[in-house]
Amino acid sequence: MYVSVQLSDDHKSVVLLDQRRLPFHEEYIHFYSASEVAQAIRDMVVRGAPAIAVAAGFGIAVEAERLVNSGNYESYTKNLEKACDWLELSRPTAVNLSWAMKRMRKVLSSEWDSIESLKSAIVNEATRIASEDVAVNYNIAKTGNSLIPSKANIMHICNTGALATVDWGTALGVIRMAHMSGKDIHVWVCETRPRLQGAKLTTFELQQQNIPMTLIVDSAAGYLMQMKKVDLCLAGADRVACNGDTANKIGTYSVACLAKLHNIPFYIVTPLSSIDPDVLSGKEIQVEERSCEEVLRPSGESLVAPDSTPVFNPAFDITPFSFISGFITEVGILQPPFTWQVVNKWKEKLQT
Ligand code: MRU
Repeated sequence: MYVSVQLSDDHKSVVLLDQRRLPFHEEYIHFYSASEVAQAIRDMVVRGAPAIAVAAGFGIAVEAERLVNSGNYESYTKNLEKACDWLELSRPTAVNLSWAMKRMRKVLSSEWDSIESLKSAIVNEATRIASEDVAVNYNIAKTGNSLIPSKANIMHICNTGALATVDWGTALGVIRMAHMSGKDIHVWVCETRPRLQGAKLTTFELQQQNIPMTLIVDSAAGYLMQMKKVDLCLAGADRVACNGDTANKIGTYSVACLAKLHNIPFYIVTPLSSIDPDVLSGKEIQVEERSCEEVLRPSGESLVAPDSTPVFNPAFDITPFSFISGFITEVGILQPPFTWQVVNKWKEKLQT
C-alpha cells in the first residue's frame, strides 16, 4: 500500500511519494530540511490540502532535528519560526497549511526546559497532526457513507484519496467506505485538467481498491447528468469560508453548477481543518495561479497550442455555498444554511 507522506524513523527526513510520477512510477523521495519540503510542496511532489499540511508539520520536525546543535534556545526557536513562515507560504489556497503551522508555532512559543525537550514536543505534534488526519478521515468516511444509496453512480473531481491525505482521504474515503460496506458503487472520475489529478491519481487509487470507475473528460460531466447517469457528486475542499463558500480544484464550481441545474446532490467532503474561521466569504480566498506550461504542455513535452499563446491558469475555483447540499465532516453532516454554522463547528472543535 502506498503512503503519501511519512517522517523517517530517525526524524531526519520527510519521505514523500512523488505524485508527479504516478500512476506509472511509485518513487519515494527523502527531503532533509524545511526549505526542501517547502520546495517539494511548491513543485507538487505532494498534493492535496491535508497531505501538504502533514508534510509541512514533518518539515518542521526535520528542521528541528537538523538544527538541534546549531545554537542557543533563542536562535533555535527563531529559525524554526522562520521555517514555519516559508512552509506556510509554499502554497496559498489550502488553509490546512497555515492551520498546521499555527499548531507548530504554538509548540514553539510554549515553555520548554531545553532544546531537546522542545525538539521532542515538535516531533510529537507533527506526528499527532498525521495520526489525527487518519482518524478524522476515517470518521468522515463513516459519516459520508450514511448518505450513499445501496447502488450509486458518483461523480468525483480532483485528488481526494489517501494520496491527498495520510490515509482514507476525504471524498474518496467516503467512496472507499461505501464500497467496503458492500454498496454497488460506480465512480465517474473527472480527469481534472490541467494537471489531471483525476486521471493520474484518482484512477490509480480506485484501481488499487478495485472500485468500479470510468474516466471522463471534465466537459462530459453535464452530458452524463443530462442522461441521468449521476446520483450524487462528491468533492473535497482546500479552504471553506465561514459562509460555506468553498475553494477546491479548478472545475469543481462547474460540476456544482451542473449538479444544481440537474437537481443532483453536490457534497463537499472536508475535515474541519479546511474551514478558515478568518475568512467570511469566498471573495476573500486567494486563488493560486499556476504556470502557463501546465496548460500549454499538459504532458510536460509537446505544445498543444501555438507557442506563447496567452494562458490563464487558476488552480482552484470557488463554489458558492448555495450550490452545496452539505458538508461531510468528522463531526457530522452540516446542512444549509451554513452561515455561522460552519464557523461555530470550528470553534467547538478548537475548544476540545
Ligand atoms: O494538486 P493540488 O494540490 O493543486 O490539488 C488540490 C487538491 O488535491 C484538492 O483540491 C484537494 O486538496 C481537496 S481535499 C483532499
